[in-house]
Amino acid sequence: MVSATRWLVMIMRSLLARIMAFSFLSTVAMVSALALIVNYQVSASFSNYIYMYHGSGMHGMMRGGDMAAMMGGDMMAAMMGRPEIEFLASFRQSLTLVAIFMTVAGAAVSYYLARSISTPVLNLNKAVNAVTKGDLDITVSDSRKDEIGQLAKSFNSMAASLKSSNVLRQRFLAGVAHELRTPLAILKANLEGIADGVVIPDAAQVGSLTEEIDRLTKIVEDLRDLSLLEAGQLRLEFSSVAVNDVLADVVNRIKPLADGKSIHLALALPDKQAVAWADPTRFCQIVYNLVVNAIKYTPVDGTITLSATAEGDKAVVSVADTGVGIPPENLPFIFDYFYRVDSSRSKHSGGSGLGLAIVRQLVNAQRGTIKVNSVVGQGSSFSFSLPVKPS
Ligand SMILES: Nc1ncnc2c1ncn2[C@@H]1O[C@H](COP(=O)(O)OP(=O)(O)O)[C@@H](O)[C@H]1O
Ligand SMILES: [Mg+2]
Repeated sequence: MVSATRWLVMIMRSLLARIMAFSFLSTVAMVSALALIVNYQVSASFSNYIYMYHGSGMHGMMRGGDMAAMMGGDMMAAMMGRPEIEFLASFRQSLTLVAIFMTVAGAAVSYYLARSISTPVLNLNKAVNAVTKGDLDITVSDSRKDEIGQLAKSFNSMAASLKSSNVLRQRFLAGVAHELRTPLAILKANLEGIADGVVIPDAAQVGSLTEEIDRLTKIVEDLRDLSLLEAGQLRLEFSSVAVNDVLADVVNRIKPLADGKSIHLALALPDKQAVAWADPTRFCQIVYNLVVNAIKYTPVDGTITLSATAEGDKAVVSVADTGVGIPPENLPFIFDYFYRVDSSRSKHSGGSGLGLAIVRQLVNAQRGTIKVNSVVGQGSSFSFSLPVKPS
């Protein structure tokens, strides 16, 4: 008895069994109630009929219905002829058959209903388990137009976004490994050469090794900034930033680099300068990264123009160059980690492909936006906007 109860409890834990049992029991209850009512009504009408035709002499004062209700089954039976008895029996037989048919149909409908709800739920459960085990390629059918279809669609888009972030993570790790490998290999080869006495550690040699270490340090610092930015944990000190002053300052600091390539740095600033609400150091870092890129990707004798405008409640800064430009098919990716349009050329110029990723994260962290326009062979223009100081 105990094990039968436990068995029943276990079965009833299943959604399929519960929906089926609930729906089936409702059908049985409805059919039984219907059969009882019909049986009662027909019996009552039939009793009236018998009474009116066979027993009208008795209790002449009572109405047929009351009489029928008062008559016992035996009395009724005694009054009925063979045709009446046969009619009543065949009616009850038909009623029983209809009730059985409706119960079977109810069971079939209950099963269908329960399956149509529980099967997609079970499929979703299987898919969730597969995702937990790391299979991110799995999808479930989302062709239904109801709530279960919506749930399936949400699941599919969640699996797709998990997959894309997984791909990004793998690409990121591969990028880190790739970027660290080269300077480390150079350092190792040189140190081995010095140890073997093949390389003499003169000032130039030490200088170039220090450069490699600087490169490594820069990558590690950039990665640290990026991870803090992604986690929303980079501390930003917001204050008023006089945009014209910052641009003039960056131009002064970077002029020697531009002069080395005979690149002309131009400033196009409004008389009334915009005042952005940002972290001054990070604001400088954004402009600096953009200008360094512009110098890197602009041939000798080119021009780089830094401009600033106030547009509504935004301060907009642009860095435009007359450089090599970026092909349209590469434009969507230039803000990705370690992405370089021409890796051999960028490598030569010392970039790791993290500069623009940092720029975008810094702009976003300061509630701004960044966009780029570029034409191959003519130049590129990066412009970002940040909120102005709230009044
Ligand atoms: N001003 C520019 N002109 C042309 N190409 C650019 C410019 N700025 C960035 N790029 C392209 O975008 C890529 C990503 O830039 P960035 O993230 O700063 O990496 P890098 O370390 O190579 O400078 C660069 O490798 C380069 O191909
Ligand atoms: Mg760069």
